[in-house]
Amino acid sequence: MEKLKIFTGNSNISLTEKICQYLKTPISCATVDRFLDGEIEVKLGESVRGNDIFIIQSTNPPSDNLFELLLMIDAASRASAKRITAVIPYFGYSRQDKKDEPRVPISSKLIANLLSKAGANRVLTIDLHAAQVQGFFDIPVDNLYSTPIIIEHLKQFDLKEFVIVAPDVGGAKRASGIAKRMGNLELCILNKQRPSPDKAYITNVVGNVEGKNALILDDIISTGTTIINGATALKQRGAKKVYCFCTHPVLAGEAISKIENSELEALFVTDTISIKKQPNLPDGKASKIKVLSISNLLGEAITRIHSEDSVSSLFIDY
Ligand code: R5P
Repeated sequence: MEKLKIFTGNSNISLTEKICQYLKTPISCATVDRFLDGEIEVKLGESVRGNDIFIIQSTNPPSDNLFELLLMIDAASRASAKRITAVIPYFGYSRQDKKDEPRVPISSKLIANLLSKAGANRVLTIDLHAAQVQGFFDIPVDNLYSTPIIIEHLKQFDLKEFVIVAPDVGGAKRASGIAKRMGNLELCILNKQRPSPDKAYITNVVGNVEGKNALILDDIISTGTTIINGATALKQRGAKKVYCFCTHPVLAGEAISKIENSELEALFVTDTISIKKQPNLPDGKASKIKVLSISNLLGEAITRIHSEDSVSSLFIDY
């Protein structure tokens, strides 16, 4: 295959550095800067003609992250790259994925169109909010699962003490698969109601957590309301300690300090989004939040995509 080159936008350079360490490849040179008026200025600093290009950029807010990615893809396409893979560890705008009420966009379909139109030939991502978003693309999408990372991390605990908790009915299938994978652990499901996008009430807990540790599994933490209210509900029903694993730490607004003051024992997240960039990170750190890196998983997927090897063994269906 043609020469592999890794480029990065500004959303999560430390993740790109770790992926490049795994790949033993330097980050290719590019300017991704701002003109004086704030518009994004992109220039690839080396030839990409005939190369196999991977551009790593999560598309969490601000929207500049998405725009940087689109402009970098456009630049690589116009500079005759052989193949362009958009590596999007956190795929933003994925939550509005259907027209389930009048006058709403299907945001994730629009983003899929923009990426393809800009010139992306493939997408590599992790834990899409809804797997069917893959169908919005007419190019291949590799949607990796982050669960092997938390399963590995939890080996230090006595898993027999744990109940796996789905944060809502929609998350029950995933949580049930992981509970099986972790040795047929018991499953508990929270019944969640959302009166508005940034509010979440737990109305019922289906399953028994009394005297057990609970592990809530979620894909995104935005305001933190789901897991904070979930932790309170689980404690009220007799859970000893409540942990949470969440792939994408969006952590909007005051989420970090609310989590620090919550009933949660610990929150495990991945580095699809850099929490170091959070403006509300108290004293530069959050004592309850532990970051587990997905860099090796992404690095291995890039290696296999580049060498045209199967990535299916990275897709163990949990
Ligand atoms: C919902 O479908 C998602 O899986 C998360 O539960 C949700 O995005 C969490 O949002 P928040 O942290 O604002 O409760």
